Amino acid sequence: MNTVIVGIQWGDEGKGKITDFLAKDSDIIVRFSGGNNAGHTIVLGEKKFKLHLIPSGIFYENKICVLGSGMVINLEVLKKEINDLKNEGINTKNLYISENAHLILPYHILIDQKQEELRAGDKLGTTCQGIGPAYVDKVSRRGIRLIDMFDEETFSEKLKYHFKEKETYLKESNLILKEIKETQMEIAQSLKEQVADTTLILSKALKENKKIIFEGAQGILLDLDFGTYPYVTSCNTLAGSAATGAGVPPYVLRKILGVFKAYTTRVGTGPFPTEIKGIIGDYIREKGGEFGTTTGRPRRCGFLDLVILKYALRINGINSLALTKLDVLSGMSNLKIAYAYRYKGKEIDEFPQNLKIWNEAEPIYKELPGWEKDLNKINSFEELPEEAKNYLKFIEGNLNLKIEIISIGAERNKTITR
Ligand code: GDP
Ligand code: IMO
Ligand code: MG
Repeated sequence: MNTVIVGIQWGDEGKGKITDFLAKDSDIIVRFSGGNNAGHTIVLGEKKFKLHLIPSGIFYENKICVLGSGMVINLEVLKKEINDLKNEGINTKNLYISENAHLILPYHILIDQKQEELRAGDKLGTTCQGIGPAYVDKVSRRGIRLIDMFDEETFSEKLKYHFKEKETYLKESNLILKEIKETQMEIAQSLKEQVADTTLILSKALKENKKIIFEGAQGILLDLDFGTYPYVTSCNTLAGSAATGAGVPPYVLRKILGVFKAYTTRVGTGPFPTEIKGIIGDYIREKGGEFGTTTGRPRRCGFLDLVILKYALRINGINSLALTKLDVLSGMSNLKIAYAYRYKGKEIDEFPQNLKIWNEAEPIYKELPGWEKDLNKINSFEELPEEAKNYLKFIEGNLNLKIEIISIGAERNKTITR
């Protein structure tokens, strides 16, 4: 069955680890949204790989990996990522890039940074990778697509237009049109064999009943329409966007796997009702290694929030769950799970769509006893401490869905399936 893997919190749920784990039983792994704002970590033995653009199925020799048309691609970052993998002996010849994907060019990064500066006291905390400005160009129909790179005239014209249009940003910079053109064209040429109409690859695979994994980026609460707007990313991250971002019919998206951490994190600004400031938050950050994969920023940490999870389940049609980082909670004597919020004296258990409510809502917690035991040597659900089982059962009871995958470490084999 085809599977869409989406993060159902604010990103960094462990989508990369779960995608890599499930990729062994699939044929094709497709990224369908976002760009190198994503950072997906895969730990194989002693080695830690951080992927920003390339799907997390790349470590299997015989799988096809696709960068879908819903993505925005920084060619310099892609080239480096490919080279870094090659240097580690990883084969990247089965990687295909959609010719319809839009490019992130150096001035998009500059504009992202400038716009953040201008927001002064109300920064979004973007990754400053040019994601927003590149999607803006796409939406306003002046974006540069990968396919344009193979026609010098088209690329030149579009680039000139961009330079004129973005004059105010560019005049203070040292970016030079000619240099951008040469660098980008050189990289595009070196990747030409791998740039394709990727919808043909996917259609053929679907006809042959091959299994596809659609690997989401970011998280549902960062979705442009359904997240904590405006503190979101600039594209849809919802499971449904796998169809539009990869170019496949929506009915092929059968299994919708929601990945979430045993607690909650967020990097960047914006509402976060269950955030824990102080010693417990610091403890989770240190123990969980909660520092951004892309920017190295410390992630904000908090208790598990069922209000956001229920919302994510509802709008994505999540029919399968994977929980990660249960091991990080070992050693905490007392755990809390928010099952509702209190706002102006009233209890609400539906996710609000209002910035004011997010900022003022007080989580209502269920307290549960923690466990001491290190989960490092555990191989099955039965071996988990009773308290950990109860923690998971409380979540399942509230979400009304079984947690099928439990991750207790960053490595592939630290995964319990039920
Ligand atoms: P993604 O963006 O959703 O792929 O997640 P990231 O890779 O940005 O962040 C997840 C981090 O947690 C990475 O450093 C992973 O190696 C690590 N990780 C994933 N699953 C587990 C787990 O079950 N336990 C622990 N301790 N670390 C995990
Ligand atoms: P993965 O795929 C966590 C956040 C940024 C910022 C907001 C907008 O690794 O889970 P952007 O650069 O996209 O314009 O920033 O979105 N953000 C992420 N947070 N994980 C990610 O990706 C993220 N991608 C973007 O921190 O708050
Ligand atoms: Mg990440």
